[in-house]
Amino acid sequence: MYVCLCNGFTCRDVRRSIEEGAGTVGQVYKAQGAKPNCGRCRETISDILTEGRTSSESLPMDAPAFPIAAE
Ligand code: FES
Repeated sequence: MYVCLCNGFTCRDVRRSIEEGAGTVGQVYKAQGAKPNCGRCRETISDILTEGRTSSESLPMDAPAFPIAAE
């Protein structure tokens, strides 16, 4: 899905930028070689950044991919 229509980048592009180290909305724009124009995408980019933080912080790195049944 397109996140930024002014610059033509998608949520996949945003996630890739985050994986490559972007930690702020401004850094995502920079990683995309873009500059904010109308600014409507800022909130969506911020939401994707937050989603990435909460999903990576909610589980420890060694957490099993699947729940283990209690014996
Ligand atoms: S939609 Fe991203 S700057 Fe306009």
